[in-house]
Amino acid sequence: MMNQEDALRRIADLRAQIIYHNRRYYQLDEPEISDAEYDILLRELITLEEELSFLADFADSPTQRVGAPPLEKFEAVNHIIPMLSLANAFSEGEMVDFHDRIGRLLGGTGGVDYVVEPKLDGVAVNLLYEEGRFVIGSTRGDGFTGENVTQNLKTVHSLPLRLSMPPGQKAPSSIEIRGEVIIRLEPFRTLNQRRQNDGLPPFANPRNAAAGSLRQLDSRITARRPLDIFCHSLGAAKGLNFTSHWDLLQTFKSWGLPISPDARRAGTIEECMTYYGEMAKKRSALAYEIDGIVIKVNSMEFQRRLGTLSRSPRWALACKFNPLQALTVIENIEVQVGRTGVLTPIAIMQPVQIGGVTVTHASLHNQDEINKKDLRIGDTILIQRAGDVIPQVVKVIGGKRTGNEKPFTLPDLCPSCGSVTVRIEGEVAQRCVNMDCPAQLKEHIKHFVSRGAMNIDGIGEKIISRLIDSHLIHDPSDLYRLSKDQLKALDRMGAKSADNVLGAIERSKEAELDKLIYALGIRHVGEHTSKILASHFSNIESLIRADESTLMAIHDIGPEIASSIASFFREQSNLLVINNLFNAGVAHRGKQPVRPSALPLSGKTFVFTGTLRNFSRNEASAIVESKGGKTTSSVSRKTDYVIAGDDPGSKLDKARDLGVAILTEREFSSLLAAFEE
Ligand code: IVH
Repeated sequence: MMNQEDALRRIADLRAQIIYHNRRYYQLDEPEISDAEYDILLRELITLEEELSFLADFADSPTQRVGAPPLEKFEAVNHIIPMLSLANAFSEGEMVDFHDRIGRLLGGTGGVDYVVEPKLDGVAVNLLYEEGRFVIGSTRGDGFTGENVTQNLKTVHSLPLRLSMPPGQKAPSSIEIRGEVIIRLEPFRTLNQRRQNDGLPPFANPRNAAAGSLRQLDSRITARRPLDIFCHSLGAAKGLNFTSHWDLLQTFKSWGLPISPDARRAGTIEECMTYYGEMAKKRSALAYEIDGIVIKVNSMEFQRRLGTLSRSPRWALACKFNPLQALTVIENIEVQVGRTGVLTPIAIMQPVQIGGVTVTHASLHNQDEINKKDLRIGDTILIQRAGDVIPQVVKVIGGKRTGNEKPFTLPDLCPSCGSVTVRIEGEVAQRCVNMDCPAQLKEHIKHFVSRGAMNIDGIGEKIISRLIDSHLIHDPSDLYRLSKDQLKALDRMGAKSADNVLGAIERSKEAELDKLIYALGIRHVGEHTSKILASHFSNIESLIRADESTLMAIHDIGPEIASSIASFFREQSNLLVINNLFNAGVAHRGKQPVRPSALPLSGKTFVFTGTLRNFSRNEASAIVESKGGKTTSSVSRKTDYVIAGDDPGSKLDKARDLGVAILTEREFSSLLAAFEE
C-alpha cells in the first residue's frame, strides 16, 4: 500500500499523463497509446482518487470528463440572474440609432467605447463556478430556468473544471459565466461523414449538432462529440467588480476560460461598422459559424446606468449578417451511389448565387428527408449555405406550386449496376448491396487513394473512372499492378504524369498500419477508429483474427463497429484483396509475415467444373486464393483437385483419366472448413 504522499504524487503524475493523452486523442487525433492502456491509467486514477477522497477534492480531475451513466431526465436549474437575449439590428442605420440612444440615455457619448465580438451560432449555456470549481452547467431554457447539463458540459475539453487563478488571486465564491457551445466546421464535417457512413441522418448544421449533443441524456455519447465553448458574458458574480467588458474577457482568459480570439475593442461606432464589414467578409473563412457580430458598451458603469429592458440589455446590440439563403428551382433529382452502396438523392438546381458562390447541387440525404420536406422535381425551394458547408434545402415554397411538380422516390434498382437496392431495418439509408457495383468501386478506390488513407497523389476521379471503365481495376490491389504503358494509354496522361502516379503508388506501400486499415473502407471504421485499431494490433493479420468479443474489449469499440469489422474480414473477397495487397508489397502484413507457403492451400492447384450451388465461381476462386491456392481453367497432371459441381463437363473425365483427386462441392466445403481457424 502506497503512503499518502506517494499516492498524491502518483495522482498528479497520472493526471498529467491523462491530460497529455486526451490532447493527443481529442485535439490532435493522434493517440500515442492504445485505449486499453489509457483505460488502465484512468482506472488507477479513479481508484486512487476514491481512496483519498477524504483528503482532497478531485472535481477538476480528468476522471470527470469521460461521461457518466445515462440520466432519466434533466433536472431544472434556476439561473441566479436570468439569461437575456440581445436586441437585433440588420443595417448600419440601426447601429447608429443604437449609438445615439446610448448618448441620449447617458447624456452624451463622451467616454463611451465598445467591445465587438462575433455572434456565435451555437447553444447558450450558463456555467456556475463555486470557489473556482465548475459545479452546474445549464441550458438557457426560457431564460429563467434551464436544464442541468453539467455531465455533458464536463466532457467539453476546452472548459476548465477548475478556474486556474493567477498567483495570489482567490477564486470568486460564486460566479455565473455565460458562453456559447459550438462545434467547429472541420470536426463537424468529420462527424457528419461518420454518421452518413453509419447510415444515420447527418446534422443540418453545427448548431443543431451542438444542441443535440448537449441534450443527450447519456453523456458518454456527448463525450464523443467535438464540442467546444467560448465564454462571452457574466451572470451573477458575488463580490466581483469588473471595470469594463474588455477587463471581464481578459479575466476570463487569465482563469483559463476560452474566449473568442476575434473579440476587439472599438473606440467609435464607425469602428464597430468596419469590424462588421470585416467579419462579414471573413465569415466563410472562420473555423466556426457566426451569424453576426455583437456590439457591447465597454464600461461596466455605463452598462449599469443603461440597464436592461424586459428581454435584452440596452448596452448591447446583435448585428446580424444577411442569411446565406436564396430561392431556386429543383430541375432534377439524381442518385449518387456511395462507397458503402448508400443511394443519396442529389437535387440539381437552377444555378443561384449565395454569398458569392454559385450553387447548383444540394444533397437531399435520403428518402425520409424528401418525404418530410415533401420535395418534388419542379419545386421552388429555399436553400441556404451555412459557412462553407454544402448547401441545404430549408423548405419548399408551397405557394409556387403549379401542380406539375413530380414526386420522387429512390429507385428500387441501383442506377449504376441495376441490382435490387435494399433498405436495412433501422437505417434510413437505401443501399445497393452488390459488391461489384462500379459506382461503389469508384468511391472505394477514391477512398483508398485519399489523403487520410494510402495518400496516392495524382489519381483523381476522372482517372479512376477511366481505369474502371477500361477494366484495369477491379479492386484496390489492382492499382499496384498498373504499368506505365497502361497509364499512358489513358487519354490525357503523359509519360511524366504516369511516372508521378507510379511513384506515388510505390510510396504508398510504406503507409502506416492505421492508414491501411482506414483505406480498406470498413463500415463504421473512420480515421479515428483505425488509429485505435492500429494501436491495439501490431499487424493486419491479428486484426483479421480478432473476434467480436476481442474487439469489443477495446474501449471505444462498440458492438456495431465490432460486428462490422468481423463481418468485413469474414468476407472472402476482402481477404483476397488484402492478400493481393501484401503480395504487391504493401508493407503491413505484420511482424511475422505469413509466408505464402504457410497458408493452408499454398502450392495446391484447383480446377472447377459444373455449377456450384453455394458459391459463384469467382467466390470459390477467391477463397482458394485467399488460402494460398491457385485456380486454373484446365486440368493437367499438375492439378491437385478438381471440384465437380452439377452437370460437370469434360474436365471431370480428364481428371479421372489423369488420376487427379475429384471433390464434390460438399467435400470442397469441408476441406475449406478444415482450414478455418
Ligand atoms: S452576450 C444579455 N455575446 O446570442 C445577453 N451573446 O441573442 C448576453 N450569443 O443567448 C449575451 N454570441 O447565447 C453575447 N458574443 C456574444 C454572443 C452571444 C452569441 C448568443 C447568446 C444569447 C444570444 C442572444
